[in-house]
Amino acid sequence: MLYNLLDFTVRGDHQGKLVVLEKNSGFPFDIKRVYYIWGTDKNVIRGKHAHKKLEQVIVCTSGSCDFILDDGNTRETVRLDNPSQGLYIKHNIWREFTNFSSDCVLMVLASEYYDESDYIRDYQMFLNETKKHSALMSSQIKKREKND
Ligand code: TYD
Repeated sequence: MLYNLLDFTVRGDHQGKLVVLEKNSGFPFDIKRVYYIWGTDKNVIRGKHAHKKLEQVIVCTSGSCDFILDDGNTRETVRLDNPSQGLYIKHNIWREFTNFSSDCVLMVLASEYYDESDYIRDYQMFLNETKKHSALMSSQIKKREKND
């Protein structure tokens, strides 16, 4: 799976709804940074990068958009249109997002402070990194099997 969809607990009634995201309450990491994105034209493609270490939970607090996720082997598209869900993306996943509704607002909760050196912005470089990573993993598994 290239991502997890987190279902948040929704509090509230006919007067309105409320979601709380806080440390030590089932959130997958300690939140260091929050930013939000809006006013993106429908056909713009944002993202086009992966992160070496950073993890994110992305909440579409209003409207909708599509996330395209890629681990170097497979690609999956997930539509975000529900403020009670969070798209949890770990590191080493290429992401692009597009098809923004005019009222789309994305809130991003991040596990790290902003660091441009954590970005991989070149797709070919991303593929090379994922190949290197899988080669390393399989050699470690082989070593472990040999020692068992
Ligand atoms: P970027 O992460 O590339 O945007 P997106 O993935 O949403 O398309 O960021 C766009 C620009 O904003 C880029 O020049 C870096 C800058 N930026 C910061 O300065 N701080 C931040 O926390 C973020 C997320 C971006």
